[in-house]
Amino acid sequence: MSGSSITGWGSALPEKVVTNADFESRLDTSDSWIVERTGIRERRFGGTTSGLAVDAGAAAIERAGLEPSAIDLLVLSTTTPDMTVPATSSTVHAQLGCSGAAFDLNAACAGYVYAVVAADAMLSAGIGFTKALVIGSDTLSAITDMEDRGTAVLFADGAGAVVLEHREEASPLVLASDLGLDGSLLSILYAEHGGYMKMEGREVFRRAVRACVDSAFKVLRQAGLTVEEIALFVPHQANLRIVEAVAQRLSIPPERWAIVLDTTGNTSSASIPLALIDAVEHDRLSSGDIVLLSGFGAGMTWGSALVRWGA
Ligand SMILES: CC(C)(COP(=O)(O)OP(=O)(O)OC[C@H]1O[C@@H](n2cnc3c(N)ncnc32)[C@H](O)[C@@H]1OP(=O)(O)O)[C@@H](O)C(=O)NCCC(=O)NCCS
Repeated sequence: MSGSSITGWGSALPEKVVTNADFESRLDTSDSWIVERTGIRERRFGGTTSGLAVDAGAAAIERAGLEPSAIDLLVLSTTTPDMTVPATSSTVHAQLGCSGAAFDLNAACAGYVYAVVAADAMLSAGIGFTKALVIGSDTLSAITDMEDRGTAVLFADGAGAVVLEHREEASPLVLASDLGLDGSLLSILYAEHGGYMKMEGREVFRRAVRACVDSAFKVLRQAGLTVEEIALFVPHQANLRIVEAVAQRLSIPPERWAIVLDTTGNTSSASIPLALIDAVEHDRLSSGDIVLLSGFGAGMTWGSALVRWGA
């Protein structure tokens, strides 16, 4: 049996901290409204998608004890590329000094789950890839209307990355996955070229909970595992109330959730790796632990993956 394991990880956040009080001073909103309805207290704004990706990627490669040139597959999940052409992964690939292939992947806020599943599958396919760098990087502040209180307080910037190394004598990293979307729901969350995000918050909330719960049960069935066997639930960090609603329906207690949204806001592709890495750095994972990655986003897309930590 062959499989991959996560051997390195790294995060990057812009320096500029924007608190709820900063919004209070210029929008018709309040710290208590934002905290109560979203769980978000502060977030970071700034940087570029490639710049944050390079910082997170470099940290992950160093943590894995590798030279950048050892990376032969770079997958960058992003909704906010630096340019239309070329792919932002080209810039990141050049700046890090990686080898082999690189491509961008856009599945909105479910993108990181898609990226991990895609990279793992490409490593396992026997098509020449051995070490993948999987980065989620987004600068949502650039496509958010800072005058719109319904979205301005939610979205933010950041990046997270992991290194996947393929080994002949290893158990699989991804035990089960479910990637999907309902493209008929485009109108509830979108941004046109050069425009800001438009969102029907309540509808996104409702659909997200349903999609994440159904998808989680699907991967558990696929893997033949029970909820009790999930050591860590790493949800997309959009809104604490969405996390609570999903976790409650799945019966996962709070001590098994990975949460960073109180200090990061919704960083789209970066949110799942940022939460995962925070848990790793707080020694919340041991070798063999089962982790549920769960994302949803514009499209609407969703993605669930059960991965075995340190396999
Ligand atoms: C956006 C969201 C926080 C709004 O919370 P909610 O409890 O659903 O609130 P509602 O949309 O019902 O709005 C209630 C009121 O609060 C107002 N409101 C919206 N944003 C506000 C803010 N920042 N401060 C104060 N009031 C606000 C609304 O205008 C509305 O006022 P009205 O009743 O006079 O029209 C919530 O719907 C949400 O998080 N949805 C999912 C969004 C998401 O995750 N998007 C990313 C997907 S990847």
